[in-house]
Amino acid sequence: MITTAPPVAESRLLRRIQGVPTDVTPVWLMRQAGRYMPEYRALRQQHSLLELIKTPELAVDVTLQPVNAFDLDAAIIFSDILPPLEGMGLELSFLKGEGPVIHNPVRTAADIAALRTPDPRESLCYTLEAIRLVRNELDARGLPLIGFAGAPFTLACYAIEGGKSRYHENTRILMLAEPELWHELMTKLATVAGEFLLAQAEAGADVLNIFDTWVGELASHHYRDHVLPYVMQMIDIAARSGKPIILFGVGSGPLLDLMATTGATVIGIDWRTNLQRARFRTGPEPILQGNLDPVSLLAPWDVLRREIDEVFAQAEGDSRFIFNLGHGVLPQTPVDNVRRLVDYVHQIR
Ligand code: CP3
Repeated sequence: MITTAPPVAESRLLRRIQGVPTDVTPVWLMRQAGRYMPEYRALRQQHSLLELIKTPELAVDVTLQPVNAFDLDAAIIFSDILPPLEGMGLELSFLKGEGPVIHNPVRTAADIAALRTPDPRESLCYTLEAIRLVRNELDARGLPLIGFAGAPFTLACYAIEGGKSRYHENTRILMLAEPELWHELMTKLATVAGEFLLAQAEAGADVLNIFDTWVGELASHHYRDHVLPYVMQMIDIAARSGKPIILFGVGSGPLLDLMATTGATVIGIDWRTNLQRARFRTGPEPILQGNLDPVSLLAPWDVLRREIDEVFAQAEGDSRFIFNLGHGVLPQTPVDNVRRLVDYVHQIR
């Protein structure tokens, strides 16, 4: 195939990450593939979520849906943070209306001891194959691919609570009261998630994103003592790839100074944290990414545009900034608003 696109290394996202000037601000969206897109809903009528994830050709199709529909500056591989738990011995399903469920949650010392740490090249070969396949398509478009994994704490929340939970009390009591068991569990999760990121980089991912969705509920000293060391362990493994790493947490405002000590290249900021204050907490080093409230995308265009302007006002011409949402795209988001958002960000100089 003859391609006219410039090499991926010259894409806006990778240039911005390397500190090289770009024409405009790069933009991609967390959960940019999914139910808000009619193309996705059509595929979901025929296949379950896990079928889409585990059939490389289908995962490639879904990965490309948002980059075909919008002028996004990156694709993110279609998967979820939870399939790595299957290889460890947990039974995962996604139930309609309920979200993810682990049928045999981890509760005892014996459960933790029984968790396996398989090689992701075997246990998660379907996602690695999808990455290899989509890589060719993205090269033709000059677009980078983001690989991802869940962070140890967020994975522990699902492994222990077995599904949706308000306070994650079983997880946090294990963390506080059983330090040795916690260490054993978190070391296994950090190893599996870190090795998976490394394998994704080997398969062709250009950037590696760590999602720590539930970390915002932790006291700072609990994060520092019981969670940060394992994020570091995961990053140490993934960093062997030499690829840039994005670290994102929801409600992580009070933790940003600690998150900055991990050496992550990019720190994702949620919408509750003012970007100026976020910069104050992280210092000048990391690139900041965020942080439009996903609910803004449900508003009329003049409201949405004002909210985008506000994000840029807070970023104050920071050249170490990537535009994104403060969390994932909501399922009820109008497709047209996503298009207008991406095009508008690309107009701002
Ligand atoms: O473009 C993309 O970003 C899609 C790939 C992706 C999915 N999940 C697919 C998915 C990514 C990056 C994720 C990450 C993920 N999954 C996180 C971390 C980021 C975040 O949003 O906080 C978490 C906590 C999960 C766990 C998860 N998966 C939940 C809680 C749910 C149910 C809630 C929901 O949004 O439906 C899922 C299901 C899920 N994962 C869907 C998609 C597209 C919806 C499933 C469907 O089609 O029915």
